[in-house]
Amino acid sequence: MADQDAQSTVGFEPPALSVLRWDEPPEGPVLVLLDQTRLPAEEVELVCTDVPALVRAIQTLAVRGAPLLGIAGGYGVALAAARGYDVAEAAGLLERARPTAVNLGYGVRRVAAAHREAVGKGAGDEAAAAVALAAARELHREDAQASGRMAEYGEALLEELMPGRGYQLLTHCNTGALVSGGEGTAFAVALRVHRGGRLHRLWVDETRPLLQGARLTAYEAARNGLAYSLLTDNAAGSLFAAGEVDAVLIGADRIAADGSVANKVGSYPLAVLAKYHHVPFIVVAPTTTVDLETADGTSIIVEQRSGREVTELTSWQGVAAGGGGGRAVAPLGAPAYNPAFDVTPPELITAIVTEEGAVSPVTGAGLAELCARSSQV
Ligand code: MRU
Repeated sequence: MADQDAQSTVGFEPPALSVLRWDEPPEGPVLVLLDQTRLPAEEVELVCTDVPALVRAIQTLAVRGAPLLGIAGGYGVALAAARGYDVAEAAGLLERARPTAVNLGYGVRRVAAAHREAVGKGAGDEAAAAVALAAARELHREDAQASGRMAEYGEALLEELMPGRGYQLLTHCNTGALVSGGEGTAFAVALRVHRGGRLHRLWVDETRPLLQGARLTAYEAARNGLAYSLLTDNAAGSLFAAGEVDAVLIGADRIAADGSVANKVGSYPLAVLAKYHHVPFIVVAPTTTVDLETADGTSIIVEQRSGREVTELTSWQGVAAGGGGGRAVAPLGAPAYNPAFDVTPPELITAIVTEEGAVSPVTGAGLAELCARSSQV
């Protein structure tokens, strides 16, 4: 029934994406980002020389996705230290740049604490800045490692649920190398299944309104030679009804202590569909995305974004330049509801897969146990 518009090429390995890197040109240290607002049309780098530039990049989604936000936030603190800015002030600006992904605050606080400790022990500016940079690099390395382990646990879980067969997997938003120090979260599982020759198809939700699925996941799927098809978010229901989805794999921006998962808006309706159709709904996220201090889903702050992202068919660059700038698809001034995320309750989730293993059924106690095993929390 689906377009056969992408041929699987198991064994093909594209060059790794350079999503974020620290550089030290003669003019001073910088954080270089792959500008995700320009994908898939152009692979363009965005050079951040200071924290306000990085905050803008975070708010316009030039850099995005929970784990990568943590890494970017950590390097942002290192950048402030290296350039002689007030580190505590910079950390506050970065932490407040977006409210939902808990990794952002985690990365910022972890690197700021390392810097503070170095200063407390009498380190000079340069030495303390070096400590901050080392802490950011360590966070980056750990996230890459976590990504590989999540892929292994995720693949093992699929095998346990559906032994000895291949799968059609459905995913939402973007969860690959573009959001990670490694190959991502949910997408990394699909990639591993693909490399094992068992991915029959990756169904990619376009992910309205900012099209992270169409622009970014399809880009990553194509780069890696996956058999994939893009669908409008509205088409998922009929795909489930036709029996064409074996499992849903998504990432997370914040997981509350009770196992409620905040992820890109549109995740919750998929979980409801999956439950109705008896299809496993699997969340893949590092333990750094678990927030044991947020008791439940109702306590998660969901970012509300500009209504213009809904009322205008924007050129993506228009959004990056401050919202809108595109062709109106609604009457001038039409009010719009535009939450960036929604929250899926634990009873709709088959399993949460982390780098420490999977929890299924999803309970607060099981989640807390996984987090206790992690050195990162
Ligand atoms: O608004 P975005 O693009 O930052 O939202 C990203 C998502 O919702 C991802 O699914 C989530 O961060 C998980 S990525 C591992």
